[in-house]
Parts: sequence; C-alpha cells; structure tokens
Amino acid sequence: MRNRLALLAVLALIVTACGGSSSEEAPPATSSGDVAAGIVTYNGTCVACHGAEGAGIEGLGKPWVGSDFINSRTDDEMLAFLIEGRASDHPENTTGIAMMPRGGNPNLTDADLYDLIAYMRTLNLDA
Ligand code: HEC
Repeated sequence: MRNRLALLAVLALIVTACGGSSSEEAPPATSSGDVAAGIVTYNGTCVACHGAEGAGIEGLGKPWVGSDFINSRTDDEMLAFLIEGRASDHPENTTGIAMMPRGGNPNLTDADLYDLIAYMRTLNLDA
C-alpha cells in the first residue's frame, strides 16, 4: 500500500512536469507576470534607456524588440539577468555601456521584474 502511494506520487510529479509543454518550444511561456503592470514599471524605470515600446535608444539601451537574448531565455533566466545586470566590462556586454542591476532601480521587487518580463514577451512575438 505504501509503495503504491509512493508510485502514485511519482506519477503525479511526472504528469505535472510534462503538463503544458506539448506546444512548440520557443519562446518560453510567460510566467505569472502582469503585462499592464509591466508597462507602468517600464515607463517608470526602463524607458529612458530602452526607448518607447522597447525600440532601444542608440548609446543608452539595447532594443528589446527582436532580441535573441530575450527570446532564448526562460522567464527565470531573465529574472536572474535583471537582478544581476551586465557591467560594462562583462564579457557579454555588446555596447560598452552598463545595464545596471534591476535597471538601476533597487526598489523593484522580483514580482515587478516578472511583470516587466511579461511585457517584454509581448514585444518579441515576431522575432
Ligand atoms: C541607464 C540606462 C538603462 C536603464 C535605465 C535600463 N537599461 Fe537595460 N540595458 C542598458 C544597456 C546599455 C544594455 C546593453 C548592455 C550591453 O551592451 O550588452 C541593456 C540591456 C538590457 C537587456 C538585455 C537586452 C539584450 O538583447 O541583450 C535587458 C533585458 C534589459 N536591459 C532590461 C532592462 C529593464 C527591465 C530595465 C528597467 C527595469 C532596464 N533594462 C533599464 C541600459 C539600461
């Protein structure tokens, strides 16, 4: 009886792990982030460098639209990137300009960042 319960638990885990991933692979599914809230945060913190609707501003911030970097990362990987940023001397830096941790706004919570990630995904649909 105990073994049967354990087996059931394992099966349930497997079903949960596989569930919902049957669709095409990229881009990764959007997490719990709220797009509308993400737009508000974007306009408060990120727009100065990343431009209207993530189009980018030369010499300030890279475009989000069509970004392979964004498209090839999961939401959790994007969160890790946003928490850390990309220093100007980071080997993956492409412009010589720093992307600061949390876009330079330490008040942004991880939930705020997930909202931003959800917004980002809406800008990368046709990339
Ligand atoms: C002071 C300017 C500035 C602000 C504000 C800023 N960024 Fe950036 N961001 C940059 C720069 C510069 C880069 C590119 C770094 C490089 O050369 O690789 C970048 C890169 C990125 C990238 C990677 C894009 C890619 O294709 O490699 C993401 C994602 C990003 N920023 C998100 C954000 C978010 C979210 C915010 C707001 C919370 C924000 N940034 C605020 C300057 C800024």
